[in-house]
Amino acid sequence: RKPVSLPRLLEMHARGEKIVMLTAYDATFAAVADAAGVECILVGDSLGMVCQGLSSTVGVSLETMRYHTECVTRGVRRVQGTAWIVSDLPYGTYHESKEQALRSAVVLMQAGAHMVKLEGGGWTADTVRFLVDRGIPVCAHLGLTPQTVHALGGYRVQGKTTESATLLKRHAHELQDAGATLMVLEMVPAALSAELTTELSHCATIGIGAGKDTAGQVLVLHDMLGLNLGKNPKFVRNFMAELPGIPGQHGIKEAITAYVQAVKNGSFPDNALHAW
Ligand code: KIV
Ligand code: NA
Repeated sequence: RKPVSLPRLLEMHARGEKIVMLTAYDATFAAVADAAGVECILVGDSLGMVCQGLSSTVGVSLETMRYHTECVTRGVRRVQGTAWIVSDLPYGTYHESKEQALRSAVVLMQAGAHMVKLEGGGWTADTVRFLVDRGIPVCAHLGLTPQTVHALGGYRVQGKTTESATLLKRHAHELQDAGATLMVLEMVPAALSAELTTELSHCATIGIGAGKDTAGQVLVLHDMLGLNLGKNPKFVRNFMAELPGIPGQHGIKEAITAYVQAVKNGSFPDNALHAW
């Protein structure tokens, strides 16, 4: 297997082959996800909730992201893995200036990330261009942006009204024009993300709670293993619960493999169950 590269991801988007993304925060899970065929591993700042017990991603630091990015990178390397590693720029580490964003992104790239992800549209376009011009691939993130949950008024669907959908689309095009090559769309109506996926030809959309017609899908690892301590959002599917019950024969690796297959063959997500 050849390492996953940016041209390959964009070529998959052009061909219509689904891109599979999954979060991982440590070496073992990263190696297992890689072996199961996950193309993009996201070191998400969801680790704030999943690993650190925080109530939101707002409190995650750059040092924490650096540490987990390093752990994931080592795990992938150890098994001669091929996954493309995306790492979240946490809240407050790219908001001050483009220069601050570059300094923060360099920390994650030097920890082993291939790409950084940042949330939001509008003001972020200039920051994305600044990073991309300096050789740092960028994944955008629109719709429900958890770092700004307090401003959004909760974890709720975005882009439902005509005005908010128009704004989201404008932001998406600005981010593509600025050089973003992947774009997470979180909790947006399926019709909106389908339209954007067609419109954006050199930026591949990765949906979570955004319906089935995106270029790829992402889930939080612990959610898809049924380890969410709270209420599971509607967009989650528990791939662990669906495995045939043969003791000792099936486990986490098989659940992740089932997720990869379901995304590839289009059976996950199901717009009737996991979308708006
Ligand atoms: O931090 C994270 O896990 C994410 C995904 C939910 C897209 O940003
Ligand atoms: Na995140």
